[in-house]
Amino acid sequence: MALRALTGIKPTGEPHVGNWLGAIKPALALASAYETYYFIADYHALNAMYDAEALRKHTLSIAATYLAFGLDPERSVFYRQSEIPEVFELSWILACFANKGLMNRAHSYKDAVAKNLEAQRDPDHNVNMGLYTYPILMAADILLFSANVVPVGADQKQHVEIARDIAERINHNYGADLFVLPEPRIEEQVKTIVGLDGRKMSKSYGNTIPLFLDEKPLQKRINQIVTNSQEPAEPKDPDQSHLFSLHRLLLDEAGGEALRARYRAGGMGWGQAKKDYFEALNAVLAGPRVEYNRLMADPGALQAVLSRGRDKARAKAAPFLDRIRSTIGIAPH
Ligand code: TRP
Repeated sequence: MALRALTGIKPTGEPHVGNWLGAIKPALALASAYETYYFIADYHALNAMYDAEALRKHTLSIAATYLAFGLDPERSVFYRQSEIPEVFELSWILACFANKGLMNRAHSYKDAVAKNLEAQRDPDHNVNMGLYTYPILMAADILLFSANVVPVGADQKQHVEIARDIAERINHNYGADLFVLPEPRIEEQVKTIVGLDGRKMSKSYGNTIPLFLDEKPLQKRINQIVTNSQEPAEPKDPDQSHLFSLHRLLLDEAGGEALRARYRAGGMGWGQAKKDYFEALNAVLAGPRVEYNRLMADPGALQAVLSRGRDKARAKAAPFLDRIRSTIGIAPH
């Protein structure tokens, strides 16, 4: 039997090139080797998104993005976290086995505390319980579907380890192999995808290349990539160029070497280099852009895909939750 890979995507903003190359593409590639579960972690987004319209919009947009890049909802299970009530019941069960100290040590919470202390505020200023217990809900996402492998960015590795800790604790307490112990799978590339200004591509830096811009605005955006003031004739150092590192991500080994050589040779101005990158990027995004726009114009069809995914997911989750209930001494439904 194929191993199961599961990953969640938080619908917090407009999807960009960094999300695609760092997360979407590697996650979708797993479908050829694993039984795959993909879901939109809309209730995870709620701890930091109090704008209903934005949450609705981003949820659909993320769903359309994954489908536009080739997620096959027949082959994978694709659903919205909020539509799986079993996740939330399991989350409570896990909470009863998760030490408070484990949550205190979670990075996202620790970061929030560190920022507050730095600003000489109460350590828990603006920390809601959704943020604090975030790793427990994430553990429920993972353990409910007995995922073997969880592809995540490096910042989420600790959360998968927390899921493992809680699972081990419960298995040990009841002397049962109830939960599969999940392994994180880290895509190293995520860290290295730079934005327009050379810092990590991130919504919070305002340096992203959104995935579904029309051609003109896409070209404009690419023209904003920061370069140095070298003349066209001068040889350029590819390793010092954000433009090169972005373009390189679209190429195979040989294509990367060829581009490197063109930078080094001189005779190519930044305007030309940006034009080349635009053309390469536009070529791979053109198809998904059409599909994305089609899906976004038909929210009913999008919801129908998610509803089928929900049914498939719940068909697995409900009997397993019954087994969990029985094991811990709660009447099965
Ligand atoms: N916390 C993840 C992120 O911010 C999203 C997520 C929620 C997730 N539940 C998950 C990822 C379960 C993997 C498995 O990116």
